[in-house]
Amino acid sequence: MRNKICEELNNSDIGKLVNLCGWVDRRRDHGGVIFIDLRDHSGFLQITINPDDGASLFKQAETLRNETVIRVSGIIHERPKDSINKNLSTGELELKVKDLHILNQIKNNLPFPVSIHDYENTKEELRLKYRYLDLRRGKLLENLKTRHKIIKVAREYLDNYGFTEVETPLLTKSTPEGARDFLVPARLSNGDFFALPQSPQLFKQLLMVGGLDRYYQIAKCFRDEDLRADRQPEFTQLDLEMSFVSEEEIISFNEKLIKKIWKDILNINLKDAFPRMSWADAINNYGTDRPDTRYKMLLKDLGEVLGNIGFNIFTKAVKSGGCIKSITIAGGNSSISNVRIKPGGDIFQVAQDAGAGGLAFIRVKGHELETIGAIKDNLNQENISDILRITEAKDGDLILLGAGDTKIVNQSLDRIRQYIAKNLNLIAKEKWNFLWITDFPMFERNEEENRYEALHHPFCSPKNIKFENSEKFRKGIEGSTANAYDLVLNGLELGGGSLRIHEAEMQKEVLRTVGLTDQEIDEKFGFLIEALEMGAPPHGGIAFGLDRITMLILGADSIRETIAFPKNQQAKCLLTQAPANVSKSQLKELDIEITIDE
Ligand code: AMO
Repeated sequence: MRNKICEELNNSDIGKLVNLCGWVDRRRDHGGVIFIDLRDHSGFLQITINPDDGASLFKQAETLRNETVIRVSGIIHERPKDSINKNLSTGELELKVKDLHILNQIKNNLPFPVSIHDYENTKEELRLKYRYLDLRRGKLLENLKTRHKIIKVAREYLDNYGFTEVETPLLTKSTPEGARDFLVPARLSNGDFFALPQSPQLFKQLLMVGGLDRYYQIAKCFRDEDLRADRQPEFTQLDLEMSFVSEEEIISFNEKLIKKIWKDILNINLKDAFPRMSWADAINNYGTDRPDTRYKMLLKDLGEVLGNIGFNIFTKAVKSGGCIKSITIAGGNSSISNVRIKPGGDIFQVAQDAGAGGLAFIRVKGHELETIGAIKDNLNQENISDILRITEAKDGDLILLGAGDTKIVNQSLDRIRQYIAKNLNLIAKEKWNFLWITDFPMFERNEEENRYEALHHPFCSPKNIKFENSEKFRKGIEGSTANAYDLVLNGLELGGGSLRIHEAEMQKEVLRTVGLTDQEIDEKFGFLIEALEMGAPPHGGIAFGLDRITMLILGADSIRETIAFPKNQQAKCLLTQAPANVSKSQLKELDIEITIDE
């Protein structure tokens, strides 16, 4: 249908007859001549239609609306000097149309202008509902091309190192990755359900047992969890697994892969080794296991100084096993008013949303500390100098304090830290702060349910602990760290992995520790235990969030900008209106009855 695309045209085409296809981006009628910006997937070209070229051609051109699909033939001309458009690669050219075919006319009014100039002004809801129009605007298509290139670089890299890409099932059994499963009823075994995979974790391990040695997959994963800008219910992992490797080998191999992606896509040389930080240091100093190290404001422990000054909230926090921690905002006395940190204020609200009951503060003014009476009245000179030493606060600085349950204090100060960094513009742009977090604990305590939970997943192997007998092993692993690692970039978790347990007895004991009975272990993971009993090699791997890698490379605000057809924050597809009702007969076949009210 066409012998050129817009981006290919240049001065050497002047005088040539070309056929082009595309959309009407804009039509302007000027003094009897119709000017059309023709858009195809590659770019734009101005085309002109003159009444002298024939009445019927001109009449047809007058019916063209934005987004009409057309095919045009004509001769490429040089534009008059005064109408050259320097912003376009074809800005010196125009096509004088000889022949025009309307391939598809627009039926209804468009929900929003497709023209790129209006990109920012369209509500996301509309962009999702009419995703194909949003795509046609170009920016999203560019994002998808970048995503494609990232996958291509990864595929080539992994292929060079002997990895085989293998697809694993989507209709499968639940893999515990910490979210709810999406379930699929199984018609042929009524009453039973498949689970969509939260990750290919167990299958990739089974591929290692199968002797594949090096596996990878661009893998779709499904997790029914609360959504955020960096989470989708259906997302993609760059997932890989290797046999006979150490944690160090996996980390350095994957670091090279990430560096290669940044080099090939962004032409950025990440020369230095990515820093590493233990999980415990990350939690203590940043309150989170995915710290953004582009700015300081570290969390400091003031428990020893403030725990026994006689201020009730502080005393209680420390006595009940919690903590008192602070962050220091340099120059905060002038940049942050009291209104913002007291009840009703935006910063107070951030703390509260993270579960904190309140937020105390100290302002450093010269050699004095200004704070609420109940704290100030109880501070002696030694306390004051200890506070200044630990918090590293100086004249003009603001110290924010959280006290209570350690997890909540960490969480709220982490959120405040991030909020303030954004709010006060403290984040250096163009910084790529990669960070490996290592030495994750094997388990965390779920106090409500009085049991342990796996911090990553229960297939990670414990560090430096051999299996001799159940009792000894159980005691050893409860407080142990795992051979597990996460890669964090600018405060976002890009990927995570571990060395796996490859011995059946050890795997069973870990599953018992997270509260499974032997019968449950057999029902849920019998196939894995059996496989481990039949010559499983030591193995380990990692999975990166492909959507997140793409989002960071693009500098986008949300992973929705990297996905062709994403779900909205309520996990709905606004384009197809999924999820949706199904017919009674479909339900009957599955023996399923819906009992909720209409
Ligand atoms: P994990 O659960 O850490 O590990 O997931 C790996 C990476 O996947 C991305 N990710 C998500 N991206 C978008 N939306 C989501 N809802 C979402 N959830 C996770 C993150 C994360 O770092 N099987 C293990 C990997 C392994 O041990 O090899 C796993 O899935 O970037």
